[in-house]
Amino acid sequence: MPQTPDRIALGESLSISRLVCGLWQVADLEKNGTTLDPEIAADALQAYAKSGFDTFDMADHYGSAEIITGRLLARFRDAGARPAAFTKWCPEPGPMTPDIVRKGVQERLDRLGVDKVDLLQFHWWSFEHPAWLDALHEMASLKDEGLIGAIGVTNFDAAHLRVALADGIPVATNQVSFSLVDRRAAGELSTLCMERGVRLLAYGTLCGGFLSDKWLGKAEPETIADWSRSKYKRFIDVAGGWAGFQGILAAAADIGRKHGVSISNVATRWVLEHEAVAAAIIGARIGESEHRSDNLKLFGFALDDDDKARLEEAFAATVQIPGDCGDEYRKPPYLTASGDLSHHLDALPSIYSAEPVPGRAGQFRVSSGSVWEPVAGYSRAVRVKDTIRVSGTTATHGNDRCVAPGDPAAQTTYILDKIAASLRPLGGSMDDMVRTRIYLRDAAQWEPVSRAHGRVFGDIMPANTMVEAGDLIGDYAVEIEAEAVVPDNAQGR
Ligand SMILES: NC(=O)c1ccc[n+]([C@@H]2O[C@H](COP(=O)([O-])OP(=O)(O)OC[C@H]3O[C@@H](n4cnc5c(N)ncnc54)[C@H](OP(=O)(O)O)[C@@H]3O)[C@@H](O)[C@H]2O)c1
Repeated sequence: MPQTPDRIALGESLSISRLVCGLWQVADLEKNGTTLDPEIAADALQAYAKSGFDTFDMADHYGSAEIITGRLLARFRDAGARPAAFTKWCPEPGPMTPDIVRKGVQERLDRLGVDKVDLLQFHWWSFEHPAWLDALHEMASLKDEGLIGAIGVTNFDAAHLRVALADGIPVATNQVSFSLVDRRAAGELSTLCMERGVRLLAYGTLCGGFLSDKWLGKAEPETIADWSRSKYKRFIDVAGGWAGFQGILAAAADIGRKHGVSISNVATRWVLEHEAVAAAIIGARIGESEHRSDNLKLFGFALDDDDKARLEEAFAATVQIPGDCGDEYRKPPYLTASGDLSHHLDALPSIYSAEPVPGRAGQFRVSSGSVWEPVAGYSRAVRVKDTIRVSGTTATHGNDRCVAPGDPAAQTTYILDKIAASLRPLGGSMDDMVRTRIYLRDAAQWEPVSRAHGRVFGDIMPANTMVEAGDLIGDYAVEIEAEAVVPDNAQGR
């Protein structure tokens, strides 16, 4: 059996363990208000690091995880090499000015007690709020300044990762849920990552411990105390329920018996064998339980074709989690510990607001604040009775910057977010869409644009027109206008 986990290079200068020690569990251990003693907890992390599990994943909201890891890193100050520390910044949606971003990054540096965050991963709650691109561009500047080693994102679907890359953000990693139960990341996201050199960091690999020998043949639990298992029980339910899950456990158990390893080893190995995946993050309840010696075994075997076929058979009796990675944080059903975003946010602010149209009773309009709207005389969107008409929308960020120049599919994704944001204050949503018109600079680009449109409207299927309009202004490759009819009771604000 290997003595330490396999390693992999991330970016130019970071060597990491392919099993990353996840510290969300610190927040769960501290949820009653008592924080862990940072020196004692750092002792526990040091034992992980000593046995080769020397890469740690945390976030701004994982209780005192950053502080504890900071204590660990301080012990390596004069040692030359030190453990790698990944953290996340998950700000509330709102303007992302350079000052706000610098403050968010500096807080990570201060809590970790380092001059540079090895990997800073960015999470954004709603792509309808476009400031996520400002935040990532500012993070790229701070990377150039030396405060960030590599930029990661977390819970980004393929479409928005594509926007970030096409807009010039040097994204090294995307941290997403990936397991025998949640196989979404194996699809379009993996393809994009392989094309563009982005590596996946997989979490939820053990579904909070459900993917282990402990749960084989067990009855469905009625109550769950810890956050992690509460969250992944929701995944299991959406993936077809307990019977299908037991089928996956049984298949992994058969494979485990054949190789002399545990169900958890088979589950993690299956994720790690996907080419786009750099590492799996496995949560550690430090001071409570540890599984290092069992987890090491997954580096001593490989899945063969029969094993993979046996798993596919079990998958066939389950349901694929709908949508793409990260949807569980952005739309119902929210597959979070609480089943909603109440642990994270009070409300999702709207980027635009509606106002009555002067002199026209019952009509409302939305303005984006563009300097051009009053000059040229138009609104972002107008509601008349139950119909909302959205102006021709381009991938303009702020007043005049074209997002994702040269990538029509990425521009389409950005445009559709903007259209969704325009409908919201007028009481509508993308579900109400009855018509879209797409203007394309280059007709040869019809397919990627159609696919990006289909990602949003695949189930809604509004009437659609697509025309080539070769003389779109500037770098714009696409422009879309839209019309929605809202249900009678949906009032504009
Ligand atoms: N980016 C995001 O949005 C996001 C979301 C969630 C998590 N994460 C990251 O991913 C990390 C992983 O956490 P997770 O919540 O997804 O949980 P997980 O890694 O799927 O499960 C961790 C649990 O699995 C059990 N376990 C570990 N090794 C085992 C083995 N060999 N045999 C049997 N059981 C084993 C342990 O349970 P017991 O301790 O009960 O034995 C452990 O607490 C987090 O700490 C965090 O860093 C990120």
